Amino acid sequence: MALFIGRDLKDDEDIYIEGDKSRSILICGKRGSGKSYTMGNIIEDIFEDIYSTQKKLVIIIDPMGIYHTMVEPNYSQNNVLNKWGFNPKSYNVKLLVAGDPIENYAFGEERILDKMKQRGVKFGSFKINPSDLSPDGWCDFFNLGMTDVQGICLFRAIQNLKRRMGKSFYLSDIINAVEMDAKVQDRTREALLNRLEWAESLNIFSQNYQKFLDIFETDHINIIDMKSLDPGRYNLRNLIVSILTKQLFKARLKARAMEELEIFTDIPKVWLAIDEAHQFAPSGKSTLAKEHLIRFVKEGRQPGLSLIVASQQPSAIDSEILSQCDLILCHKLTSKGDIHSINALSADYMGNELKTYIRKLGRVGEAVLVDDEKEKVGIVSIRPRRSNHGGGES
Ligand SMILES: Nc1ncnc2c1ncn2[C@@H]1O[C@H](COP(=O)(O)OP(=O)(O)O)[C@@H](O)[C@H]1O
Ligand SMILES: [Mg+2]
Repeated sequence: MALFIGRDLKDDEDIYIEGDKSRSILICGKRGSGKSYTMGNIIEDIFEDIYSTQKKLVIIIDPMGIYHTMVEPNYSQNNVLNKWGFNPKSYNVKLLVAGDPIENYAFGEERILDKMKQRGVKFGSFKINPSDLSPDGWCDFFNLGMTDVQGICLFRAIQNLKRRMGKSFYLSDIINAVEMDAKVQDRTREALLNRLEWAESLNIFSQNYQKFLDIFETDHINIIDMKSLDPGRYNLRNLIVSILTKQLFKARLKARAMEELEIFTDIPKVWLAIDEAHQFAPSGKSTLAKEHLIRFVKEGRQPGLSLIVASQQPSAIDSEILSQCDLILCHKLTSKGDIHSINALSADYMGNELKTYIRKLGRVGEAVLVDDEKEKVGIVSIRPRRSNHGGGES
């Protein structure tokens, strides 16, 4: 699978990303430099390939809520597209929302949802199984330390429930367990119950066990909308990314073992694209999702997991993730710290340090491409999008 992303600025040669093997791709650049647009380009071409060869699962983590516009053809750039030999095109989009889409996506306004459906967006809703989170994951979710009195009580409750009920316990069971815990003081119990009741009020935790991965469809671009989830308090966004990456990893590990033994499996290879990725794997600080993401990128190649991360602040992404990326698309960067962190990824085959290439970047839509597989570096003029880009500001 060759993903066409643009042309070499120097000799006009077509530039492809080889996508048959698993890849880890970093897209960076300052705000408005074209990262999300480029990420959409890569997704389009992965999807173009889906009917022709093996099925793949394409999932986008969308913190800004901009990728659903891929359901519409990019008519506004029709002329440019024609010059490149393309036509405007729409893609199948499934927009996945935690909890009820009307409440959690459409601000309670049904007309918003109706209009999006008219445009062709398919909606899906998912809930989080409390048992998919480990006892320490639950403590992390509430920012409780393991030596914290509330943390100790919560850890004990989850651990006991897991032992007794396996996968089938829910928030009401956790609340009950905390209420019945004789070892804990009233004030601690109250404080913890407040947190758990808040979690219950979000309506995003399941009341019967749902297989998370069942919500995705290989013939759609699966977009997990995070715009409606508060990025601050209690790590909701990270909670979802942690469960997703953990389960994808486990599913593909099993699938890989089966493939090697020539046992049929319908678990497809995965391309996971994460925009604003510094939210999930920040440098110098731990999050619920970070260790799972690091494992996904470090050990995911063999089981067929590919990752694309985009960030305006590469210096804010964990260095273990950065150093695992085998392809970089760096749009214009001006901050010294960010240039420095990208420059640290310079390799012998480049001729020059990476920062020399970054300095040569001109307009939006140009990016330095570093491809470790091909040992190639150059400046690419990124191709126009076939589908609508939703990143514009109002
Ligand atoms: N390759 C490109 N060709 C034409 N326009 C582009 C290109 N890349 C980005 N743009 C335009 O630049 C603006 C910013 O792009 P975007 O990808 O949203 O920025 P970022 O994600 O880096 O903040 C958008 O309005 C988009 O339409
Ligand atoms: Mg963006």
